[in-house]
Amino acid sequence: MSETMTRAAVLILLGPPGAGKGTQARMLEERFGLVQLSTGDLLRAAVTAGTEAGLAAKAVMEAGQLVSDDIVLAILKDRMAEPDTAKGVILDGFPRTPGQAEALDALLSAQEMAIDAAISLEVDDAEMVRRVSGRYTCADCGEGYHDEFKQPATAETCDKCGGTAFKRRADDNAETVGARLTAYHASTAPLIAYYEARGVLRRVDGMAAIDAIATDLGAIVAEVTA
Ligand code: AP5
Repeated sequence: MSETMTRAAVLILLGPPGAGKGTQARMLEERFGLVQLSTGDLLRAAVTAGTEAGLAAKAVMEAGQLVSDDIVLAILKDRMAEPDTAKGVILDGFPRTPGQAEALDALLSAQEMAIDAAISLEVDDAEMVRRVSGRYTCADCGEGYHDEFKQPATAETCDKCGGTAFKRRADDNAETVGARLTAYHASTAPLIAYYEARGVLRRVDGMAAIDAIATDLGAIVAEVTA
């Protein structure tokens, strides 16, 4: 059962590809009853659905570049308009540019909401290439695995659902991860200073074990939403 919150929280998870944003967002979602809002997942869904935005985003994502602010903001605004976000959101992979950060401020202020914390998962680049290039998921239930860190107990059979089909993201290879890291340092890392200047930045050691990071994040969320 999730812990009770007195009001809707807005949390941002910042960090390069592989920092653990998705892993931690799913854990926070379960623990605090918040809604994980991943622009990467929303864009991949648009690609699969073959929408106009998805068609425009596909090649950009596969090259490890950032999708244009216009497309991302349109997708994000649509999702934020859905009623479940009133419970509070964990923004996973958004904002990623100064323009997106400013648009988020305007969107939240129009809804009389504010950012409770922007949490930077601090990690080193070499480890991120290793984490992302070995990642794969069960095609049926989405359970995550890794070539090196987490293989199924029985070869080629999902521990969770018994499925035997697995998939890898088109952008999860060493070459594209390099481009994604470059995009992160050029466009997204400056947001750390942006949120620090506004007094909402928190830094967490993203090189620690998954459960230790979850404990640190849980303490921050409990504190900023008390
Ligand atoms: P997106 O889907 O957001 O990908 P990303 O930011 O590159 O992040 P990842 O999903 O790769 O990593 P993560 O931090 O969630 O790590 P995870 O928890 O999976 O974006 C994809 C693309 O979409 C972008 O490149 C861009 O083109 C586009 N896009 C998305 N949002 C956009 C925006 N706002 N603007 C413009 N374009 C946008 O963990 C990774 C692996 O490591 C897993 O195998 C996990 O099990 C493992 N792991 C996690 N934590 C640990 C740990 N502490 N120790 C050991 N292993 C760990």
